[in-house]
Amino acid sequence: MSLVVFPFKTEKPEVVVNNIDTAASHERVSEVLCVGVEEEQTYAAIAAAAPHVTAETGTPVNLILQDRIGSLRPGKGDGMNTALLYFLEKSDAARIHFYDSDITSFNQSWITKAEEFADLGYDVVRHYFPRAATDAMITWFITRVGFAVLWPRSELPWIEQPLGGELLMTREVAADLLADEAVRAQSDWGVDTLYTFRMIQNGAKMFETYVKEGKAHKLYGRLTDLRTMLVECFAAIQSLENETVDGTTLHRVQPPDVVPSAISEKLGYDIEASMSLLTERWTPRQEELAGFFPVPIRDGLLANLQRPRFGFLDESAWFDTYLVLLSEFDKDDPDWQELIFKLWIIRVLNYTTTAAARGYAYGMRYLRSMVERYLRQAALAK
Ligand code: LAC
Repeated sequence: MSLVVFPFKTEKPEVVVNNIDTAASHERVSEVLCVGVEEEQTYAAIAAAAPHVTAETGTPVNLILQDRIGSLRPGKGDGMNTALLYFLEKSDAARIHFYDSDITSFNQSWITKAEEFADLGYDVVRHYFPRAATDAMITWFITRVGFAVLWPRSELPWIEQPLGGELLMTREVAADLLADEAVRAQSDWGVDTLYTFRMIQNGAKMFETYVKEGKAHKLYGRLTDLRTMLVECFAAIQSLENETVDGTTLHRVQPPDVVPSAISEKLGYDIEASMSLLTERWTPRQEELAGFFPVPIRDGLLANLQRPRFGFLDESAWFDTYLVLLSEFDKDDPDWQELIFKLWIIRVLNYTTTAAARGYAYGMRYLRSMVERYLRQAALAK
C-alpha cells in the first residue's frame, strides 16, 4: 500500500480537498498526508474537511506542518523532506507518492499509472506532462542544460521533467535520500534537483510516465515570479558540480501521446513584461561582473542598460555563459542573483523569438535537439 503526500502553501481549499478525496478513495492508498507551511486558511480548511474524507473513504487523512530540516531558505525542500521522514518513521506503507496540491486536472489514473510501473519493478516513477513551448524555461535552460554540460554520459540530461513534483518512490529510495546530508540541507526549490540527481547517482530504476491531460496550474506572468526558483535551481546544480555519475542507470520513458491544443497554443509567460525587466535594477557592480563573460556576451548584456537586447545570446553563447556562471556565480550575492536572472530572461527571449515563434512542434524539437547538442559538445571536452 502507498502513502500519498500533498505539500501545500496557500491554495484554493476546494481544489486541495477534492484532490485529497481523490487520493483517499484509491484502492492502493492507505493514508493521505498533507504537509503545510503554516496554520493559515488552507490549513484550516483541510483540518475541517479531513475527518469527513476519512469517514467516507476509510483512509486516514493526516495534516502536519513542515519541520525545519534544512539550512537554506525554508521552502519546498523542508516540506518534502518532512514527508519522507514521516513515511520512514510513522508509516508502514511500501511506497510514497507526491503530488502538487493545486492541480485541477489530478485524477485517480495518476496514482494507478505510478503503481502499475512500480509493480513492474521500478524504484521511482515520475509523471511528465505536455507543456507549452514557452513554459518550463528553468527546466530547459538551467536544469537540463546543466545536466548535459556536467554529466553528458549519464541519464540525467534525458530526464523529461527533472523539476517535476509528481512522483513515486519506494522506501529504499526514500531512505537513501534522507540519509544524504546535502538532500536534508536542501530546504528550498533546489530539492527537486537534489532528489533527481541522487536517484540517478544511486542507481534507482526510473520510469517516466506520460500524463496527457497535462498539469493544469496557474500561469506565470512576468518571469519575476520565477526569480527565486531560478537562483535556487541553478545553485543546486552548482553545488553538485564536482560529483560524478556513471552511465549505467536503468531509465525508461513512456513515449509522449497527444498534446491538447490548450497546451500547445498557450503562452508560457508575458513577453512584453519580461522584456521590460532587462533595463531595470542595474547596479555598477553588475556592470563589473559582466566582465567575467566573453566580450561579445559582455557587450550584448551591457547593451541592455539602454534597451532590451537578446539577439546575441544564442545556443552557443549560452553554453559559454553557463560555464562562466558555474565557476563565478554566488547565490548569496544580490548582484549575481540579478545578473543570472537577466541572462536567463535574455536567453528565454532569444529562444522564444527564434525557435518558439516558429510553432509548438518546432520549438519542442529545438529544445530536445539543443540538449543533445550540448551533451555531445560536453562529452567531447571531457
Ligand atoms: C520549470 C518551471 C518554470 O519547469 O515550472 O521551468
